[in-house]
This record gives sequence, structure tokens and C-alpha cells, in this order.
Amino acid sequence: MKVLVLGGAGYIGSHVCLELMEAGHSVCVFDNLSSGTRDNLFAGEKFIEGDIMNPSDLAAAMADGIEAVIHMAAFKAAGESMEAPEKYARNNISGTINVLNAMTAAGVRYFVFSSSAAVYGEPEYLPIDEKHPKNPENFYGYTKLEIEGLLAWYDKLKGLKYAALRYFNAAGYDIQNRVTGLEKNPANLLPVIMEVAAGMRSELKIFGDDYDTVDGTGVRDYVHVTDLAKAHVSALEHLARGRDSLVVNLGSEEGLSVKQILEAARRLSGQAVPAVTVARRPGDPAKLVAGSARAKELLGWQAEHSDVDTLVRTSWQVYKSRMKS
Ligand code: UD1
Repeated sequence: MKVLVLGGAGYIGSHVCLELMEAGHSVCVFDNLSSGTRDNLFAGEKFIEGDIMNPSDLAAAMADGIEAVIHMAAFKAAGESMEAPEKYARNNISGTINVLNAMTAAGVRYFVFSSSAAVYGEPEYLPIDEKHPKNPENFYGYTKLEIEGLLAWYDKLKGLKYAALRYFNAAGYDIQNRVTGLEKNPANLLPVIMEVAAGMRSELKIFGDDYDTVDGTGVRDYVHVTDLAKAHVSALEHLARGRDSLVVNLGSEEGLSVKQILEAARRLSGQAVPAVTVARRPGDPAKLVAGSARAKELLGWQAEHSDVDTLVRTSWQVYKSRMKS
């Protein structure tokens, strides 16, 4: 298929593009390079520098025989979304409406959307399956939930076939070491630890060690970005076979604590990785773990590279090349 990948020069987008090309699809990357980077563009891709806030950019990109859209062009910092909701409303919600309307106008029927575990909010039970109540704790999560609602209506009214993929914590780098672009100003745990290991920042701040978890630090379900990328290809092919739209969790179904990741990073990098415990970060639940049975049932998907050593090793191979001596 001819696939337009919005946000294809970003961290997850670049991995999705590689998996799409490996599966024989033709890829057009559309990115405004605000978080994405040209380092993440690959031979064989077409690249359009464009913005989802600009309907004419989208119309031009879709005029070229595009059959499907994968949409990953969004802001994702949960904390920032509470301080600057306008920014998230504009880009994540209005921007996606622009995308859906451009697709409708161009007759593009298949849509794969990056949703998030943030739609659930504080867990009422674990593991979190798709039926879990949706009460986002932050505005970022609300934007994702709002779009899921829009997708159901565009399906009903316009025949759009979509897959909303609720990622848990994306982490790691391409198993084959083809992606080398670093995230700009990361706030997520693994890239922060990697920056400390590579001498790019002085220490890791552990946000609380008094949670009711295995070692007191926050537990999350980290899913390897190559696993995530493969799920996008499977979801697209599922829709193209004429199947119904779907909403699925993508997680490893395993929990890892901050300290477990930190210890693996120290062991695998051979670096000291200084860390200090500070206050809890507001809005952080103690533990989030996915139930991903629906993805297995509908897409035949399950995480294969999401063990702690693979997550850390594939990240370190990228960061160590940036080491300050
Ligand atoms: C959040 C969102 C998730 C979103 C992701 C993308 C929620 C509930 N989750 O994940 O949907 O896709 O961001 O950015 O809104 N930690 C530290 N020190 C650090 C950074 C993190 O101790 O410097 C800890 C956190 O307290 C947490 C864990 O590491 O326990 C993971 O944090 P992070 O990587 O920021 O992801 P989430 O907040 O889980």
C-alpha cells in the first residue's frame, strides 16, 4: 500500500517507516521537524516537510494516490499538557480533525492512530484491559480519548476504517540499529537514563521511592519500539483485508520499576549513572501494566523484544556513540 506517515521523522514514526518498507509498503513521510529529525529519514522514502495545522499541506500530500494514513504527529508530554492545554488542543485535536477531513476529501479510507494508555488514568485494576474505565489524569490523555471518539463517528458516518493503538511506555531503539536520531529534550525515563550514562546530563532524578511496588519506585509496562512498529503494519493489513475498526492496548504485559531499568543501564553500559531520589511527580500512578490479549487475538501481535536487557541494550548502542569523553 501507499502509506502517508504523519510524524514519520519522529522517534516512533521512524521505526514504523522501517517496518512498513520491510513489509513491502511504499512510504511517504510528512513531518514538520518540530520533534522529528532528518537523521530519521531513510533511503526509499518520500519526504514532505509539512504541518497538520495546514490543511493545504495535507491535501497536497494525499493527492498522490495515498491509500492509508498513520498518524503520529502529536505532542506527548503529559506534564506540559496541563500547563499549556491550548497547544495540545490545537495540535492534537484540531490537527487530527484536519487530517480526518483531508482523508475524507481525498477518499483515503484506512487510518492508524497513536493513542495512549493515558486514556485510562489512575488504574482501578491491573492488568488494564481495553474495557477499563477511561478517566484521563492529564490533558494529553484527554486529547487521545477525544480523538478515539471522533474516529468512531467518522467510521459510522464516513466509512473510515481505523485502528487506535493505545501504547503503554514506548522504549528502546531499532533492533537492527538503523535509527540513530535522538529525541530532543526527552522527559521519559529511558532516554533520560541514557543521557546520564552518555555524560549528556549529570544525574537521574528518581521521582519517588515510597510507592507500594517491588522496590518503592514507579512500575510501568515498557514496550519495545520495534514491537510497536510491527503492530502498526499488522493493524494496517488487518484494515486493508476489510476487517472492522479496532481499539487495542499495546504493552508487554510485564512491569519494570525505575530502579530495575537503572540497574540494567548501569550493568549494560558499564557507566556509573548517578541517581538521586526526589519527590513524587504529580499525576504518576504507582503501577501501570497492560493486558494485551485483544491485540494478540485480532492482530496476532505480541511483544517480542520488550525484555529489560533488549530495551536498554538497543538504546545504549545509539547513545554511546554520542558519549562525551
Ligand atoms: C507518560 C504517559 C504516557 C505517554 C508517555 C509519553 C501517563 C499516565 N502516561 O508515561 O501515556 O505516552 O508519558 O511521554 O500520562 N521517571 C523518573 N525520572 C525521570 C523520568 C521518569 O523517575 O526523569 C519515572 C516516572 O515517575 C515513572 C517512570 O519513570 O514511574 C516512567 O515515566 P515516563 O517515562 O515519564 O512515562 P509515563 O509518565 O509512564
